[in-house]
Amino acid sequence: MKTMLKSFGQNLPCPACGRVHDLLYAKPLTPLEGFQFDEAVAQVFPDMIQRSVPGYTTILHMIGVFTRRFAQAESRCYDLGCSLGAVTLSMRENIEHGGCRIVAVDNSMAMVERCRVMLERNDRGVPVDLVCSDIEDVAIVDASIVVLNFTLQFIPLCARSMLLSRIYEGLRPGGVLVLSEKIRFHDSARLSFQSEMHHAFKKSMGYSELEISQKRAALEKVLLPESLEEHGERLLMAGFRDHHVWFQCFNFVSLMARK
Ligand SMILES: C[S@@+](CC[C@H](N)C(=O)[O-])C[C@H]1O[C@@H](n2cnc3c(N)ncnc32)[C@H](O)[C@@H]1O
Repeated sequence: MKTMLKSFGQNLPCPACGRVHDLLYAKPLTPLEGFQFDEAVAQVFPDMIQRSVPGYTTILHMIGVFTRRFAQAESRCYDLGCSLGAVTLSMRENIEHGGCRIVAVDNSMAMVERCRVMLERNDRGVPVDLVCSDIEDVAIVDASIVVLNFTLQFIPLCARSMLLSRIYEGLRPGGVLVLSEKIRFHDSARLSFQSEMHHAFKKSMGYSELEISQKRAALEKVLLPESLEEHGERLLMAGFRDHHVWFQCFNFVSLMARK
């Protein structure tokens, strides 16, 4: 552990909150490689997502509220693209019915290994099946709630409809999907306003211009946002009877779709 921390230079955990400060893009990087959910990212992930996604804490809290309302007895609750398990923990705190299991899936081994440690630290209540796999290969079965919290945007565009159809098929009647995404806008005035405000948010969270621009470039071909209209159409095509935007802050939204 000591060696690993040393290799991240000044990147030591904050003694107060235990989080490691994200400095991954603080120095000029040449060549600048495409963003990956590797060990370096997994180490700083809680700090990175908190400082990059406006409203992240609120979304996690509300996923707990949705879980309390929609999780059904003897069903499965899915956290697809679980990273370090923040959604899983929020769901686990809020499942009131007996016989439920949470299935948490991520294809990054670095994330899954750290997620396992986080879950063991808070080991109580509902059992969690933690799976290191591509979500495209995981069966969705007997589900009452499925969460894609900022994960679909990393799935190839051509595979998104199939994934949402499988989620729809795997949900019980009355089941729900929570879908959170960074979105794009077709209208250029809206696009520039929302992007500018997201930029201002990141600056307010302590990221420099260099960090913001290097991370944006690293994510360019990896995170492929779609518009709210595109998401809505795909949800309806998959079979969902309706969907609602329940959260939006700048270019970040969360929707709930009901079967
Ligand atoms: C932005 S993070 C999700 C954050 C997490 N849901 C949370 O709320 O803290 C995206 C995650 O999706 C995972 N991921 C991306 N593509 C995936 C795929 N095809 N299958 C499984 N996991 C994937 C990444 O490894 C990463 O951990």
